[in-house]
Amino acid sequence: SVFRRKEDACRQLALDVAGLIESINASGRPAVLGLATGSTPIPFYKALIELHQAGKVSFQQVITFNLDEYLGLPREHPESYWSFMHRQLFDHIDIPADHIHLPRGIVDDVPAHCREYEQAIADAGGIDFQLLGIGRTGHIGFNEPGSPRDSRTREIHLDPITRQDAAPAFGGLDQVPTSAITMGCGTILAARRIALLAFGSHKAAIVKDALQGPITDQVSASFLQEHPDANFYLDQEASAEL
Ligand code: GLP
Repeated sequence: SVFRRKEDACRQLALDVAGLIESINASGRPAVLGLATGSTPIPFYKALIELHQAGKVSFQQVITFNLDEYLGLPREHPESYWSFMHRQLFDHIDIPADHIHLPRGIVDDVPAHCREYEQAIADAGGIDFQLLGIGRTGHIGFNEPGSPRDSRTREIHLDPITRQDAAPAFGGLDQVPTSAITMGCGTILAARRIALLAFGSHKAAIVKDALQGPITDQVSASFLQEHPDANFYLDQEASAEL
């Protein structure tokens, strides 16, 4: 769907997600949300917080799994995704702390941690709704070009373009981590419902590749074309090349 402004897209999606939480909770189980970072979802989180403050949605029966985390960053680092998610959402809603899951940035045995993350998602019953942004390399989560369709949570080496895009926030390219832990394409595609947000003219070319280009591991977002319930929420600028 194309919206005039990103705030309109985010308000609509927040209403949809609040409704989904309510209906899943009414069926007697927690709702499992897959969450994303980056500047793109900030207005979505703002809209969710507003709905919560208006008494329209509770997160007490919500379990979350974030897509990814930089390797080498402690939770307390201001640029860790753990910090980001608390600042942008978790500190402002009623979600129990033990319902929140992100990969850890500091971990001894990375493969074992990745297996545990996959197991925790499975134990929660799988992801009901997965939120995505898109990087300029076409990545979802941190599934850089070459990530297989069936990949699972693992360590990934960050593309130079991705590190460049993150450099301003880190105060220089040399401060940006070189690798991350990310859910795989297969982990993401297993979600029952998916929404990808993309806003601004700098996303127009990659949005076209993802939606209308060949399905290829060179653009991991192109795998969404094969998902039965994946929708793109765009503003006019991001949809300009469609
Ligand atoms: C990072 C995140 C992605 C995000 C991308 C785009 O690479 N791991 O999940 O989609 O940045 O960021 P932005 O939304 O700021 O354009």
